[in-house]
Amino acid sequence: MSHPYVLLSAAVSLDGYLDDTGPDRLLLSSPADFDRVDEVRASVDAILVGAGTIRADNPRLLVNSPERRAARVAAGKPEYPLKVTVSGSGDLDPDAKFWHTGGDKVVYTTDKGAERARAAGLAADVVSLGADLDWPGLLADLWARGVRRLMVEGGGKIHTQLLQQGLADELQLVLAPLFVGDATAPRLFGPGAYQGGRLRLVESRQIEDVVLMRYEPTAPGAPAADRHWLRLACDLAALCPPSRTAFSVGAVVVAADGTELARGHSREGGDPVVHAEEAALAKIDAGDPRLASATVYSSLEPCAQRASRPAPCARLILDAGVRRVVTAWREPDTFVEGADGSGLLAAAGVSVVVLPEFEEQAKRPNLPLLG
Ligand SMILES: NC(=O)c1ccc[n+]([C@@H]2O[C@H](COP(=O)([O-])OP(=O)(O)OC[C@H]3O[C@@H](n4cnc5c(N)ncnc54)[C@H](OP(=O)(O)O)[C@@H]3O)[C@@H](O)[C@H]2O)c1
Repeated sequence: MSHPYVLLSAAVSLDGYLDDTGPDRLLLSSPADFDRVDEVRASVDAILVGAGTIRADNPRLLVNSPERRAARVAAGKPEYPLKVTVSGSGDLDPDAKFWHTGGDKVVYTTDKGAERARAAGLAADVVSLGADLDWPGLLADLWARGVRRLMVEGGGKIHTQLLQQGLADELQLVLAPLFVGDATAPRLFGPGAYQGGRLRLVESRQIEDVVLMRYEPTAPGAPAADRHWLRLACDLAALCPPSRTAFSVGAVVVAADGTELARGHSREGGDPVVHAEEAALAKIDAGDPRLASATVYSSLEPCAQRASRPAPCARLILDAGVRRVVTAWREPDTFVEGADGSGLLAAAGVSVVVLPEFEEQAKRPNLPLLG
């Protein structure tokens, strides 16, 4: 199932709270940071908040800058991103500002919640996801509606689930210089199982008196982390010196805790026949104990037959002891009839995952070969 890129956005106090318990919304960000949030909103196809946030804050969730809205329209997009909410109960106030500002709205709910939401006459498309709310199903439905980038603006229950289920591609966290100090106030993340290891800090930036930190999950197996690493493998494929006799491929080997062990691309370092997975694996000590639980990300499935070297990449992966491969694209018959590197790996017990949403990107440097 293809999913949009999921960006979680939140502001927290120094003691980790999203809000206080007073009747009004606690303003954590600074004016310049609110403007940054407006810019991020303008860049996405949809904005999601939980029903709890609609009840607590009654937000409008608009792109406030007329210039940014005009730029969206000029680019052929709707003036406002799609507004999305999630409710199990369907208990939503039809007079909330959410429904009466901005563009189209969608409510994802359960069978029971849908009855109640429809009876309330909400100005929105009400979609039931069955007896329980299923996040991958929700994201797949958004993808089918053309949503490629989704911004999630809370609250804590929503952020917690998306991160724990490995569905968040990025966390944009703003730390505000104040304390809430009330144990009953809502926290950003609740208890439960998160990815092991450390997230990758991709940016930190001071904005007036707040600090923005951007993190990406990295541990293989989480859908968002798999997408992160496969995207990188596809970017590496674009670095390959062109060839008329071999594909351009990128590969990354990643340890179970999200540490990058090595990367490679076809024909790197002046070697006219080296393959991406071969180049990456050659940079790792064969005795490295992390290989047994590592994942190889390769923009094209590892080769099963090869004239240029004795061992194809599927064999090199097996010999390295790697048990998981993620790829974007199955090898066409261009150079080898019926190549089936994925089948060879799977027959040897390796788990092979294909993420077709990256196929176009993986093929791009190879278009001259594909005709
Ligand atoms: N500082 C910030 O950046 C920020 C941003 C947003 C919100 N907030 C604050 O966060 C607080 C609200 O957070 P919250 O955690 O209470 O609420 P929330 O995450 O906004 O919404 C939770 C609600 O979403 C629905 N929901 C979530 N997961 C579901 C699932 N798996 N199945 C069915 N329904 C599901 C449920 O709705 P039903 O109850 O209808 O079933 C649930 O009560 C407010 O105080 C708000 O001010 C702060």
